[in-house]
Amino acid sequence: MSKVLVTGGAGYIGSHMAVELLQAGYAVIVVDSLVNSSAASLAAVQDITQKKLEFVEADLRDKDRLSAVFQHHNIAAVLHFAGLKAVAESVRKPALYYDNNFNGTLQLVECMQTADVKTLVFSSSATVYGIPEKMPITEDCPTAAINPYGRTKFFIEELLKDQFAADPSWRISVLRYFNPVGAHASGEMGEDPNGVPNNLLPYISQVAVGKHPHLCIFGDDYPTPDGTGIRDYIHVVDLVRGHLKALRFLAAEPVYAVHNLGTGNGYSVLQVLRAFEAASGKSIAFRMVDRRDGDAAQSYADPAKAAKELDWRAEYDLAKMCEDAWRWQAAHPSGYD
Ligand code: NAD
Ligand code: WQD
Repeated sequence: MSKVLVTGGAGYIGSHMAVELLQAGYAVIVVDSLVNSSAASLAAVQDITQKKLEFVEADLRDKDRLSAVFQHHNIAAVLHFAGLKAVAESVRKPALYYDNNFNGTLQLVECMQTADVKTLVFSSSATVYGIPEKMPITEDCPTAAINPYGRTKFFIEELLKDQFAADPSWRISVLRYFNPVGAHASGEMGEDPNGVPNNLLPYISQVAVGKHPHLCIFGDDYPTPDGTGIRDYIHVVDLVRGHLKALRFLAAEPVYAVHNLGTGNGYSVLQVLRAFEAASGKSIAFRMVDRRDGDAAQSYADPAKAAKELDWRAEYDLAKMCEDAWRWQAAHPSGYD
């Protein structure tokens, strides 16, 4: 039976992807180094679906181990989530990010080429747009990543574009995610950041369970209605369902295509905080602090291209994102530990 290879499948988004793939009838093999995750997420995937997946603990940069995966399994397509994603860490350790993210992808593409596997869905990011000039963001907006993490995504997109130009029989879907949040509705899977979270929703969730005294809101003087930053938050389950649609899209014909995955709705930090309070019944203390370097005032998608070409739309609203994030956090205050 042919299988879908999910790189980074033990991580936050990849594990939700594995659930949707298994439930849709795909056979799944995960390759993950566990550098930012634990195999407990894969146990949860199998508990939820009552189906088995295969797991190879390996770093993508370990070419021998990766090529063995392609030799020993009949792989039809690759969903490529593996990568490091902490923006501030990437500023401190650019070489680590270029090596892990770019070099890891290079090894993957080479192994795919050798094994004649030519279908790839890549986790890119709205971060490639940098500080956007117009809203909503369409796929043809200029790319101008402003930190090393974002540039790894940009350069990987360039590599994949060149790969398609060299061999137009490839089928490559680049998905630029906006702000994935929320958790599986069971409350048994969710985001489990190492250390202090960088991102808004995990931080608010940890304030709600008493791990931090208050949220620091980074700037209340942006040119937005309440002065706080606006983002396009998207439920992680909606996001991974976009990948199933991308796989179907790629089945139609060889292509290199880029799509935004967002809801098209922008919410401010204060709106998210209020929605989380309503979902959890908890009061979230906050303090206004200075802006964070590199933050845009607003960022939200025009998701029309994905709607038209992938037949995909996000279904879940902000209330559902907060309810599911809270169900996971309340049941698992220390994540998978
Ligand atoms: P995550 O850290 O939870 O998952 C990434 C997984 O990849 C982890 O399990 C990690 O152990 C694994 N990994 C990292 N480097 C590896 C390597 N060299 N070899 C093998 N495994 C490796 O992150 P996530 O939020 O699930 O993100 C998944 C992908 O989506 C990443 O590529 C990320 O850059 C991208 N993305 C995430 C967001 C977000 O806000 N979460 C937004 C846009 C894009
Ligand atoms: C959202 C809003 C903050 C934390 C990042 C990456 C991006 C992508 C998604 C991977 C902003 C504010 C946040 C806090 C706050 N990841 N905030 N207090 O910055 O839009 O995107 O994650 O590709 O590349 O840059 O997401 O969740 O960090 O911030 O006030 O403690 O919340 O200023 O307005 P961001 P975020």
